[in-house]
Amino acid sequence: MTVLAFIAALLLSQVLRADVNGADPRLTGAPGDQVCTQCHLGAAVNAGAGSVKISLPGGATYVPGVKQRITVTVADPAQRRWGFELTARLNSNLSGGQAGSFAAADSNAQIICATGRAAPCSSAAVLQFATHTLSGTRAGTTGSVDFLIDWTPPATDAGKITLYAAGNAANGNNANSGDNIYTTNLEVTPAVTTNTPAISSGGVVNAASYQPAISASSWVTIAGTNLSASTRSWTAEELAGGTLPTSLDGVSVTINNKPAYVQYISPTQINVVAPADDSIGPVEVRVTSNGQTGAAATATIGKVAPSFFTFDGKYLAATHADNTWLGRTGLFASAPSSTTPAKPGETIVLYANGLGATDTTVAANKLTDAIARVVDNVTVTIGGQPATVAFAGLVPPFARTYQVNVQVPASLAGGDHAVVIQTGGASSPVTASCCYITVQQ
Ligand code: HEC
Repeated sequence: MTVLAFIAALLLSQVLRADVNGADPRLTGAPGDQVCTQCHLGAAVNAGAGSVKISLPGGATYVPGVKQRITVTVADPAQRRWGFELTARLNSNLSGGQAGSFAAADSNAQIICATGRAAPCSSAAVLQFATHTLSGTRAGTTGSVDFLIDWTPPATDAGKITLYAAGNAANGNNANSGDNIYTTNLEVTPAVTTNTPAISSGGVVNAASYQPAISASSWVTIAGTNLSASTRSWTAEELAGGTLPTSLDGVSVTINNKPAYVQYISPTQINVVAPADDSIGPVEVRVTSNGQTGAAATATIGKVAPSFFTFDGKYLAATHADNTWLGRTGLFASAPSSTTPAKPGETIVLYANGLGATDTTVAANKLTDAIARVVDNVTVTIGGQPATVAFAGLVPPFARTYQVNVQVPASLAGGDHAVVIQTGGASSPVTASCCYITVQQ
């Protein structure tokens, strides 16, 4: 070794500190990266009897923005301690183009940045690396181990992506000797979807009544085709901080060119909270999915769009004052739980959509964090009789869901009765199939 090479090696060993607590970044064998054999001495790379393997649940494809779980398997018949590092690179920039983002699926893995610090990574050091944790080395486990990493690919088609992994099948001697290093890579291709999202005719409706009347800052349902490749609701993590997400898995919606807040996505239905907007009248609604924006549909926004949420389309979602479910006996075939009818004179709780402005303003993109009363007068009739409204407003912790506390008229006979809510000059719709509560003396 020349003096220069010796100094270079010394510098390198000071810069790199990989160990049992997780490897340093840039050791995956990807373009621009080194390999664990910088320090680990055993068989030459890939010369041992084992392997490292990258597996994806659906084969070597990705749907833009749709999370999938990567399994990195490190195997070696002779070894008994394990480490790895994984990176995802855009084929258009293999040495520096981060492809999507990683999250550890369990405590065996952790995500670090090119700086060596824990993720999230700054825009100045975008590359992410998944590597083992100390407990993830599973000292004493023989044969092989799996490391699980959740990978969210780029939100739009980013072309081909290559995953690179290095694995250390170690002998467990707490030193960098006798350890076999393996490398692999897997090219992942975007799942081809030429299908543009399309909203059905009349497909933009009030999420409670399924009627055309919608209002700003209220729940809206969109029906159509190719709306999303995946099916799910927003998660607790996505609501952390109390702010509603504007896209799920790369699926987003605009109403009057403003982003809506996306609660649920599926190929044929999306539920959103409409953005705040002072406009009244026809507005354009667009869905973007997998990087493609479909043709606009027209919906009509009113100042309010009063409507009740129902259990089954017909009977109102309702609770008694003690929080038990209200409904005719046996309304639910099975769980969540049993229902009991309303009694004349009792105060019940109904759940409504589109009741408009509140005394305390709750931003359209926020979970409700304080009680906020509806400003306009709210009236309710049950079975055609006026019912006393004790409270109508937004309550924590829900997003844009109004609670209406109302007294069932004392003189009401038993049976199913239509319920109508009126505010801001508009009434909730009543049809033969909606919106009823069951009363029993
Ligand atoms: C800069 C040198 C260096 C590099 C590069 C390095 N390691 Fe290490 N590694 C060490 C040293 C030194 C140890 C000994 C124990 C310690 O210091 O934690 C070690 C220990 C380990 C062990 C436990 C070994 C045993 O037999 O008990 C694992 C597993 C491990 N490293 C994984 C990796 C992986 C995976 C990579 C590549 C992604 C890597 N290391 C790259 C220096 C390095």
